[in-house]
Amino acid sequence: MIIQDKTERLFTLQTRNTTYQFKADRNGVLLHTYYGPRIQGGDLSRLIRFADRGFSPNPNEVGDNRAYSLDTLPQEYSGSGAGDFRLSSLELELPDGSCVADLRYVDARQQSGKYTLEGLPAFFGSDSDADTLVVTLEDTAAQVRVELFYGVFEAYDLITRAVRIVNCGDTPVRLRRAASLCLDFPSANLDFITFDGGHVKERKPNRTHLRPGVQSVGSVRGISSHQHNPFVMLCQPGADEEHGICYGAALLYSGNFEAAVERCQFEDARLTMGIHPFHFCWKLEPGQVFTAPEAALVCSPAGFGQMSRQFHRAIRAHLLRDVWANRRKPVLVNSWEAFYFDYDHNRLLQLAKESAALGTELFVLDDGWFGHRDSDTSSLGDWWPNEEKLPGGLGALSKEINELGMEFGLWIEPEMVSENSRLYEEHPDWVLNPTGRPCTRGRCQLVLDYTREEVRDYIFHALQKVMDSANIAYLKWDMNRALTQVWSAALPSDRQGEVYHRYVLGVYDLLERVRQVNPNTLIEGCSGGGGRFDMGMLYYTPQIWCSDNTDAIDRLTIQYGTSFAYPPSTMGAHVSAVPNEQTGRSTPLETRGTVALSGTFGYEMVLGSLSDEEKALVVQQIAAYKESYDLIQTGDYYRLTAPSPDGAPTAWLHVSPDRRSALLCVVAGQTHAGPPFRLLKLQGLDPALQYRLTGDDTPWPGDVLMQAGYPLPMLNEYQSLRLWLKAE
Ligand code: GLA
Repeated sequence: MIIQDKTERLFTLQTRNTTYQFKADRNGVLLHTYYGPRIQGGDLSRLIRFADRGFSPNPNEVGDNRAYSLDTLPQEYSGSGAGDFRLSSLELELPDGSCVADLRYVDARQQSGKYTLEGLPAFFGSDSDADTLVVTLEDTAAQVRVELFYGVFEAYDLITRAVRIVNCGDTPVRLRRAASLCLDFPSANLDFITFDGGHVKERKPNRTHLRPGVQSVGSVRGISSHQHNPFVMLCQPGADEEHGICYGAALLYSGNFEAAVERCQFEDARLTMGIHPFHFCWKLEPGQVFTAPEAALVCSPAGFGQMSRQFHRAIRAHLLRDVWANRRKPVLVNSWEAFYFDYDHNRLLQLAKESAALGTELFVLDDGWFGHRDSDTSSLGDWWPNEEKLPGGLGALSKEINELGMEFGLWIEPEMVSENSRLYEEHPDWVLNPTGRPCTRGRCQLVLDYTREEVRDYIFHALQKVMDSANIAYLKWDMNRALTQVWSAALPSDRQGEVYHRYVLGVYDLLERVRQVNPNTLIEGCSGGGGRFDMGMLYYTPQIWCSDNTDAIDRLTIQYGTSFAYPPSTMGAHVSAVPNEQTGRSTPLETRGTVALSGTFGYEMVLGSLSDEEKALVVQQIAAYKESYDLIQTGDYYRLTAPSPDGAPTAWLHVSPDRRSALLCVVAGQTHAGPPFRLLKLQGLDPALQYRLTGDDTPWPGDVLMQAGYPLPMLNEYQSLRLWLKAE
C-alpha cells in the first residue's frame, strides 16, 4: 500500500511486515525517513536532527542556516558536487564541463499495478499484486529530470526501485553514474554480507562489520560474475537466520555492477547499487531517456530466513515468466561431464537409452555438436551440426531420442565466436575489440558485439534455423568468458562508454526474441556455471546452472549461499560421477542425489556404467524427485545449519505452504571419531501439529522438533539423510 500525504509531501510504503518512508522537505530535498519493521506511520522526519557540522556546507536556499546540510541529511537519491560528500547516486557531466547533480522534488504520481521497464528485466504484477509510485526530481540548472520508480508488492515485503533520467535541456548531457538504489541508514552499526568466490566456488557468504569509509563489491567483467553476486545484505550485528532486522538488496542486472556501503562520519550509513561506473559514460541527447536497471529490496524484521523466503516467493510468482516456471521440470541427463567433446551419434544414443531406461526425461546435448568443434578452440559462431559426428543432424538425433520417450535439449553459446570459425572469417569486425589492438582471448574465444543489431539478427536467424531443424524442448544458454577491450566498431568515440551496458541490453533483446518465438522451450542460463546467476537473467531463463562444480560437498556451500536470494527452483543441480572432476572427492551416490534434489535435478554422467545397485538407486532418486518436486520447488526453504567442512552436518528443510509436510535433508561433512550427539532444531513447522517422520512410528509434536530438536542419527563422512515429515 502506498500512502501519500500531498500537503506534507510525505510518502509511506506499507508492506505486510515493513514500512518505507520518505518526504520532500520545505526545500524540496527528498529525505529518507525510515525503512524497517512495520510501524503505523506518521511523519518520521521528526527522527532527523539538525546541527551545525564543520565542513558540511549549506545549500543556497537555506542562506546562513549552518544546521542544514545535504552532507548530514538522509537522502532518498543522493546527488553529487553540491555538498553531499557521501556515496553519490547520480553523476552528470554537463556541457560546460561542470559535474554537479543537485535534485529537488517536482511531483509524484501513483498507479495500480507494477511499472515495466522497456528492454530490461523487472518484477511484474497486476493491479491486485502491486502498486507503483513515481517521484520526479529535477536539477533545474542542468535541466535534467530524474524519475524514481517504486514498486510495492505488499504480500512479499518487496519494494522494487528503478530510475529514469531525462535530458530536458537542449544540449547533450553525459551520465557518469546512475545508481538504481540509494538507501540511507541512521546507524552504521550494521554488518555487510556479500556473496563472493570465483569460478567453481560461487556465492560464499562473507560477513563483516561496517568499518569507516566505503566498502564495496562489484564486477567489471561485463557479466555479473562468479566473483561477487549482485545481491548484498545489511543486518544488525546479532542477526541470524531467525532473529534480527536484515535488509537484502538485489540488482536485476547481468553486467558490470557495484554495490557499495559507506560508514559515514556521524555513524550513519549509505548503500548504493547500480551499474558500475567503470568505463560507463552515457550520452543523453536532448529529450533522451536513460533507464537504470531495477533493484529489489526486502527487509525482514525476523532474520535472514524470512528475507530469503520472501525473495523466493516473489521471484517465483513475479519474476519467472517461463511457461516452465511453475511446471515440474524434466529430469535431465547432460552429455558434458559424461563425454565432454568425445562423442558421436551412436555414443549419445547409447547414453540416452541407458538414461531413459532409468527414468530420465530430457536428454541435453552439450558442447561439441556444431561446426568442427572437437575441443574448445574452434567453431563458436558456426551454429550448424557437425555431420561427421551427427549424420542426419539434430533432426535425426532428436527424433531417435524422442522415440525413447525423452525430450531433446541443446547447448549453445550465442554471444561468442572462435577465431577458427567461418563466422569470424566472414565478419572479423563483429567482435568487441578496438581496431589495431591485439585481442585478449578467454577460453580461446572472442566476444561478439551484441550492441549491434545486425550481429544479434544473424545469431537469431542461425539459432532459429537450428531450432526449426529438430524438436528442441530445452536450451542451455552459455557464456564462457569475461569481456575485455570493450569497444564497438559501430559506435563513435564519445559513445564507447555505453558499450558494456548496450551489450547487456543486446543479450536481453536476443533472449527475449528467442523466448517469444519459442515460448515452450525451457531455457537454462549458464556462464561457466554461475557467472551470471542474477535476477536479471532469471527474467529470461527460469533456471541457471548453479556452478561448474558438481562436487556434492562443495555444492552444499554454493547452493547455501545462492539460496539467500534465489529459490531452489532456479538452481541447476546435477548428480555427477566420482571421483569428482573438480575436487577428486568421492561421495556416496545417495548424497549426490540429496544435494541435487534441492535444485532442478538431473544427471551428468554415464549412467550405463553404474552397478545394478546404483542403477536401482537412480530409479529411486528420480521417483523421490517427482514425489518431492512440489514441495522443493514451491515450498518454503529453511537453512538449518551453515555448511562447515569439518563440523556439524549441513541441514536444510523444505516446508509446504500449509506446513503439513516437510522434507528434511542432512549431509555430513568430514567426520571424526567420537562425534557429539546432535539435536537438530527444525524451523517453519506448525507447533501445534503432530508430524510423522519417515521410519518412525511415534509422531513428533511440531513444537518439540522446533524447540527441543530432533536427535540426528550418527552419520558417516559425507553420508546423507532425507526424512519426510507428514502432519497427522
Ligand atoms: C561451461 C558450462 C559447462 C559446459 C561447458 C561446455 O563451462 O558451464 O556446463 O556446458 O561450458 O563447454
